[in-house]
Amino acid sequence: MTRVAIVTGGTRGIGEAISLKLQEAGVTVVANYGGNDDKARAFTERTGIAAAKWDVGDHQACLDSCARIAEEFGPIDIVVNNAGITRDGTLARMSYGDWDDVMRVNLGGCFNMAKATFGGMVERGWGRIVNIGSINGQAGQYGQVNYAAAKSGIHGFTKALAQEGAKKGVTVNAIAPGYIDTDMVAAVPPQVLEKIVAKIPVGRLGQADEIARGVAFLCSENAGFVTGSTMSINGGQHMY
Ligand code: CAA
Repeated sequence: MTRVAIVTGGTRGIGEAISLKLQEAGVTVVANYGGNDDKARAFTERTGIAAAKWDVGDHQACLDSCARIAEEFGPIDIVVNNAGITRDGTLARMSYGDWDDVMRVNLGGCFNMAKATFGGMVERGWGRIVNIGSINGQAGQYGQVNYAAAKSGIHGFTKALAQEGAKKGVTVNAIAPGYIDTDMVAAVPPQVLEKIVAKIPVGRLGQADEIARGVAFLCSENAGFVTGSTMSINGGQHMY
């Protein structure tokens, strides 16, 4: 049976790698994206994976878009909540808008997508939700009270929803990536990034594909006994 997956923020960065890895595993993937039409079009041309534009922070847009995708592609079995933004700055410089944007997209997006898809998974007795958290949600990070709070929230959200899905064949897990070689990390000032990389025991940034492999495992049939867990993929930067 061909499973259907939605990967939010799935046309670029870590999300693109996840979309490709699930496609490789025989899953029908729809990649959501929020803004960049040109990059999304190029992604679809390159990969054959459909791209669908909506704001995951918009509750109604998630409900409507997931219903449309289910009609076109079939019931949604797998959701990877990967879409995320940063609005870094120390608390003194962070506006309420910076806080709200990050909470709405990064954490609100997980709630919105689960509301749109979890009920159907439970009814059909099979489902996989993988939420992309962050090392910075586990350990905190200077200049990221918004992002760290949202990502930390994702880890709590994962453990709570996992308990609701457990008896129904629906697993809910998180991955906590460390610093991965993407546009988001490239936006960190070079002198700051240098200090961060110096603290990664493996001695380098991670690759998007190294996160995607973890996601593919958690979405597979083989991972049916894994739920409520957080898989840290961070080159040893944070161990606990
Ligand atoms: N710990 C302690 N002090 C720190 C610090 C840290 N980690 N980082 C900076 N500081 C200090 C600096 O030393 C400096 O102190 P002095 O003024 O005494 O010299 C002071 O804070 C100001 O630092 P900046 O010059 O960097 O201040 P800024 O206002 O220009 O920028 C910032 C602040 C926007 C937070 C900037 O430091 C920054 O971008 N930091 C990186 C934040 C980060 O790691 N974001 C992760 C993005 S990637 C991601 O989020 C993906 C993921 O999941 C991992």
